[in-house]
Amino acid sequence: MKLGIIGAMDSEVAALQSALENANRFEYAKMRFCAGTLCGLDAVVVKCGIGKVNAAMCVQILKDLFHVTHIINTGVAGALSPKLNIGDIVVSTEAVQHDFDLSPIGFQKAEIPPFGLAAFPADLEMQRIALQAAKDVDLDISVQAGRICSGDQFIAGNAQKQRILSEFGGLCAEMEGAAIAQACCANGLPFVILRAISDRADDAGGVSFAEFEAAAAKHCAEIVLHIAKALSR
Ligand code: ADE
Repeated sequence: MKLGIIGAMDSEVAALQSALENANRFEYAKMRFCAGTLCGLDAVVVKCGIGKVNAAMCVQILKDLFHVTHIINTGVAGALSPKLNIGDIVVSTEAVQHDFDLSPIGFQKAEIPPFGLAAFPADLEMQRIALQAAKDVDLDISVQAGRICSGDQFIAGNAQKQRILSEFGGLCAEMEGAAIAQACCANGLPFVILRAISDRADDAGGVSFAEFEAAAAKHCAEIVLHIAKALSR
């Protein structure tokens, strides 16, 4: 097994890059890849940059150049579900691109034609391990499993948020997960997305993100370390 771990921002990968042993650094497509050993497991940690294009390119590089076999996407997200609070953790069951729409020409909303899918399913075993790791790290934390909605927009308004909720449901919104899911599906790579809530994707979303992003991202990375530990057993 070789694990690829993708975060969009420094705050989402810093703790993981520091934990890598025997790390070698590479740069491709303006992304910094750190390859080494994480809790005894072969791993590559990469900051891909924000958005779906970066995220999908990153998966392809991880597969073709680093030969990873499994992928975890770690980071922060805006809550769509009213049941989520700042700091809560979401584990993906599946991921949807809320800004992909070919419905005027006969497809379902968010359906990606060659796959015949709108929602890309996460690997069941990786979901199980991620849920357990989140609970092991913090027994008091609220962890929910469900759909994650991704798009090339920071959601910071009630109208945008309600549009996504009414069309797709979903627990949280972010900007990379479903692109990673599609690229993993195209390459036969099992994946899971793990996100910590930094804001409520509402009118106050930007302010909340500025306040809570760093702590939420770090917490999520700590859980990823526990996932790596579990996978290395
Ligand atoms: N990442 C964290 N919060 C987000 C939001 N509200 N929209 C999109 N991506 C996010």
